[in-house]
Amino acid sequence: WVRMVTAQTPTNIAVIKYWGKRDETLILPVNDSISVTLDPAHLCTTTTVAVSPSFVQDRMWLNGKEISLSGGRYQNCLREIRARACDVEDKERGINISKKDWEKLHVHIASYNNFPTAAGLASSAAGFACLVFALAKLMNAKEDNSKLSAIARQGSGSACRSLFGGFVKWNMGKFEDGSDSLAVEVVDEKHWDDLVIIIAVVSSRQKETSSTTGMRETVETSLLLQHRAKEIVPKRIIQMEEAIKNRDFASFAHLTCADSNQFHAVCLDTCPPIFYMNDTSHRIISCAEKWNRSEGTPQVAYTFDAGPNAVLIARNRQAAARLLQKLLFYFPPNSDTDLNSYVLGDKSI
Ligand code: DP6
Repeated sequence: WVRMVTAQTPTNIAVIKYWGKRDETLILPVNDSISVTLDPAHLCTTTTVAVSPSFVQDRMWLNGKEISLSGGRYQNCLREIRARACDVEDKERGINISKKDWEKLHVHIASYNNFPTAAGLASSAAGFACLVFALAKLMNAKEDNSKLSAIARQGSGSACRSLFGGFVKWNMGKFEDGSDSLAVEVVDEKHWDDLVIIIAVVSSRQKETSSTTGMRETVETSLLLQHRAKEIVPKRIIQMEEAIKNRDFASFAHLTCADSNQFHAVCLDTCPPIFYMNDTSHRIISCAEKWNRSEGTPQVAYTFDAGPNAVLIARNRQAAARLLQKLLFYFPPNSDTDLNSYVLGDKSI
């Protein structure tokens, strides 16, 4: 027999960034972060997990290609879910798996991204969240999504925020075992559904410095990071939660842009400095800033992760349409800039 479960998980984009770990193995951050979850129709991972007595080892395929599961991050997720596995009684198909059986059984995992992994868009967030969720269903682990987020976190920090829709906060937590470092919903996906997210793919090349390596170097060398984590982010988190709850776009845009810029300043403050944005990214920032100033009230917020691609959050559909026009005017297709495509991603609805 084979028992299978399929799950689908959207990716998320941080508006208050996670950058820096206080524990590298458990993946515990130096500050809280807040993200918005995208609509799964645009950027998501679909994962099927299967178990059968005929499987002789755990195996995984990513976008059709087999990958090694030997890395600590996969092993941590598998171990944590196995430890919580319960009896499974599938009457319809005559399958009975006892809690003890899970110690001996192996799983096969097939995962697909509906966007090119090479596009430099966060894929680990959706990937680990989906893996943990699917495994939990397969093994009948009865944990709520916050508890599961603490497991997904051990795959990739940002993954913990993909287990909820809407706006999500990752509490850094205080405990050494990481049990209180988990994600909670700030508001659900219906709360602020005017927002439209446009991702401008500036470069489809793989980033030079991975988030994991980059943040390690920042923690080791940047003094600005200490200031950011202790003095700046705690206040911003409170203000951002307020702005989201009140659907206050002006405050939301101000905080989102300021936090993205400070994250990239912290990267520059790293030794040797890390450059994630390029000239096109900078031009997009200028374009957004100029537009917001000329309108008197912000129309768009921008944020950049560990790469040059811009995530643009427009206040509503009209603003998004005007933004697209501007982007096409300043960065026409096949121009000498390397901006080559626009991915439209509505906030999770
Ligand atoms: C810039 O979650 O990819 O996107 O925990 O080492 O896997 P690891 O890093 P990752 O880092 C994401 C960094 C970021 C900001 C964010 O998503 O909060």
